[in-house]
Amino acid sequence: MVKPLPSSVLVVGAGGREHALVRSLLASSIQPRVICAPGNAGIADIAPCFPIAADDIAGLVALAKGEQVGFVVIGPEGPLALGLANQLHAAGIPVYGPKADGAQLEASKIFTKQLLLKYGIPTAPAGIYDSIDPALAYVRERGAPIVIKADGLAAGKGVTVAQTLTEAETAVREMLGGKFGSSSSQILIEDCLVGEETSILVVVSGRDYVILPTSQDHKRIGDGDTGPNTGGMGTYSPAEVVTPKILAQIESEIVKPSVDAIADEGIEFCGTLFIGIMLTPKGPSVIEYNTRFGDPETQVVLPRLETDLLTLLWAATCGELGHIKLAVKPDYALCVVVAAQGYPESYPKGDVISIPILPDHVAVIHAGTARNATGDLVTNGGRVLGVTATGPTLAQAAAAAYAACEAIQCRGKYYRRDIGARQLHRT
Ligand code: AMP
Ligand code: GLY
Repeated sequence: MVKPLPSSVLVVGAGGREHALVRSLLASSIQPRVICAPGNAGIADIAPCFPIAADDIAGLVALAKGEQVGFVVIGPEGPLALGLANQLHAAGIPVYGPKADGAQLEASKIFTKQLLLKYGIPTAPAGIYDSIDPALAYVRERGAPIVIKADGLAAGKGVTVAQTLTEAETAVREMLGGKFGSSSSQILIEDCLVGEETSILVVVSGRDYVILPTSQDHKRIGDGDTGPNTGGMGTYSPAEVVTPKILAQIESEIVKPSVDAIADEGIEFCGTLFIGIMLTPKGPSVIEYNTRFGDPETQVVLPRLETDLLTLLWAATCGELGHIKLAVKPDYALCVVVAAQGYPESYPKGDVISIPILPDHVAVIHAGTARNATGDLVTNGGRVLGVTATGPTLAQAAAAAYAACEAIQCRGKYYRRDIGARQLHRT
């Protein structure tokens, strides 16, 4: 590598993804100084945290300058869409995470759909609407099930997979009626894809890319994939439904064409392209792009990397990604999200959490946690912890993660009991 690794890094964000990033960056052989803004209670246990919100762009740039960090890694989509990477570039600070034009691939589902269709990348057929009557006519023409999506960012709540026409019509009326403000002034109505989902995280630097280990999220709140969608209730890696043959197909039909299409559009993309893929009977099809690491995918992908994370992300930022040959550990990883009772609707905050001493292969990744006035660890969000275990088999990783979930004490803790079940019980 031409440029020496940075000795200090700022991670932006406050969730489980960022806790996982901070842990892995700290484990780098060069032992960098890692700081975080704003962070959470778990991150604060291992790295200095600064109370600057992830959407305070000026504050974050000032922090990066003031703390003289040599590298910034941006976790969530919000600051990416707000142009944090642009501002850091302007200040001469190297950054991993796309500029605002690249972040559009997540921040506008219509922008992405148009790009996918233009470049012939497999995706569901869709219509784009900004007024109710034509949208309802299209819904009736296509029939249920059908998927209604707000164009813009909506905290993971902007998608309705409608099983009936009535449900679809309600979603159309609500979204175009302003349910998500300007995020839903335009909507996408797309055919419902059927199959198993997988998350493909790709480190991208211009036309170079490195595909990270596969994973699968569990988006619904309830066991057996029931109830409302959430930010993600648990993950495991690898997702063996993605056989080597399917992965090769995903690379040739989706990953490479996507990376090339983004470059052809004149977007200089440096960051994670997270491709949500449905494995349909007709082949893999793109559900969405995100322009950041997944949460809770990161919690299971990073512990499986043999390759140093700092080296990988720095190589992407320096245009050296072509020299990286990714090494992956054979272990399985599984993450169970412990949520506050009531999530994804309303839930209490401030409940005391007690975490016992756990085996080395179990990591309690913090998401929505804080310290109260007396220093107790307390809940501070819907998704509270990501209890992540590794093991030589998925069953062993699951057993270890669930034993830890049982042992952790917290009033009203809720978690799915079937993370990984699809792969564990596949025949
Ligand atoms: P998103 O908020 O874009 O991550 O989408 C949330 C979830 O909606 C996805 O993870 C899928 O489970 C589901 N979804 C989105 N688009 C489709 C589609 N065209 N067909 C079936 N399910 C979909
Ligand atoms: N786990 C899904 C996401 O990060 O959007």
